[in-house]
Amino acid sequence: MAIILSDTSRTFSEYLLIPRLTRSDQKPELVDLSTPLSVIEGNESPKFKTNIPLVSASMQAVSGPDLAIALARQGGLSFIFCSQPIASQAEMIRQVKRHKAGFVPSDTNATEDMTLQEVITLMRSSGHSTVPVTSDGSPTGLLKGIITDRDFWEHEDDMSNKVKQHMTLIDDVIYGSDGISLRDANGLLHKHKKECLPVLSPQRHLVALVFKKDYEDHRRHPLELLDASKRLCVGAAINTHDYVDRVPALVEAGVDVICFDSSDGFNEHQMEGVRWIRNKFGKAITLGAGNIVSAEGFDYLVGHDLIDFVKVGIGGGSICITREQKGIGRGQASALMDIVQRRNSLAKETGRYIPICSDGGLSNDTQIVIALAMGADFVMMGRYFAMTDESPTPKTSINGQMYKPYWGEGTRRAQNWQRYSSSMESRQMIFEEGVDAYVPLVGPLSELVQTTLYKLRSTMVNVGADSLSEFREQAILTMVSEQSVEEAGTSNVRQFTSNRDADNSDWGNRG
Ligand code: IMP
Repeated sequence: MAIILSDTSRTFSEYLLIPRLTRSDQKPELVDLSTPLSVIEGNESPKFKTNIPLVSASMQAVSGPDLAIALARQGGLSFIFCSQPIASQAEMIRQVKRHKAGFVPSDTNATEDMTLQEVITLMRSSGHSTVPVTSDGSPTGLLKGIITDRDFWEHEDDMSNKVKQHMTLIDDVIYGSDGISLRDANGLLHKHKKECLPVLSPQRHLVALVFKKDYEDHRRHPLELLDASKRLCVGAAINTHDYVDRVPALVEAGVDVICFDSSDGFNEHQMEGVRWIRNKFGKAITLGAGNIVSAEGFDYLVGHDLIDFVKVGIGGGSICITREQKGIGRGQASALMDIVQRRNSLAKETGRYIPICSDGGLSNDTQIVIALAMGADFVMMGRYFAMTDESPTPKTSINGQMYKPYWGEGTRRAQNWQRYSSSMESRQMIFEEGVDAYVPLVGPLSELVQTTLYKLRSTMVNVGADSLSEFREQAILTMVSEQSVEEAGTSNVRQFTSNRDADNSDWGNRG
């Protein structure tokens, strides 16, 4: 006979945190949100950490290069989706690694023989008042000079004059050499009282521009997640079908973390993949596996001391219909608590601490807080990030409201059959495990993330915790009755502003 578990499958919204003593020196802005993504042996530091406990789901509608850059600038990590050809996934990784905060490719360029009238048109259409002049008008051509709107008077000068008659010649241009650090580039801008610094190759070809106005922007991202070479960090998903070709290409492109993306990772095919990767690349690479929902699955994946973190969650995703299609899954809170307990006993017995990622089904900031209090080291979200300006889908107006398309990897649209089938035979989707939908547009990722983090930090202070590990240790959670959930909302009052909605309910109501 089947084993029937005595406990009910629980979700995050059934729990609340009980406040504990807050010390007088505690403040939300002093709370440390850094968290490990790799195994911790004894007292050693983990080889990979993020600065905030948020990562974006490996989905076509979520984790493209723009979102990966925006999230890494906030201190988190994106997992670039693997339901695409190896070369294009590797190119997305390269795009993130190439991104240099503060160094921007020049998108408005002139040639020496353009007329002032043509340059004015160019400045108006781009909104830029400083324009590099290159040999061929390209962003990487030989730099001949710089022209700005201060170099001519629109109503006094002859507009048919050539750019070369008005520009600052290259010999008089202050520039930085390729490889210059942002700090030194800003130093030159400051010293020479310039607004814009071109960065040139040894042959004086234009490489990038550094603007004075971006200096403050850089200071606004103190938690930026950078590798040893000061490049932004990025993760990538892989599958159990083509890792032999995919992983080397991703490593070559500079990926920082890889993770198997599978709807059910309690699976021999995934373990074969894990072994292959460790044999080929050793322990240097940070490797995650999943998804699992039981302590039994955890024991299987971590048993051979080969993986860095596990991903927990089956059937909870906002676009997921796995539970109704196949009858498998588990309430996310129950799955997490079961696995956290096993992880903690393993850490006690062996000194080996395996970080846990809670993946999917989070629909408001409170649930993120509860997941982290219950023992998740970090959370992976799809819908949350799909709603931002930086997700890869187009903004779409429906009945006067702005939305973004958001679809599951288990839809025919995504065609990610590798995530749902480990066998090599069935290379098609016979039935769908996800839906194709829209989510409300909420604006820039930075604003959404900063609000979430501020709430998280405030709750941690309520519990008297200075770090996420203290939060997990100190948290006391209580289950709530249906009536108590009702009580949590406003009662018997009529609200005429939407502020409260924006604070408390699902992220979609923010905008
Ligand atoms: P969300 O944050 O609730 O939107 O859930 C995102 C998570 O759902 C992803 O990280 C995946 O684990 C999972 N997921 C993605 N696509 C599908 C699908 O089509 N069906 C089921 N689960 C999915």
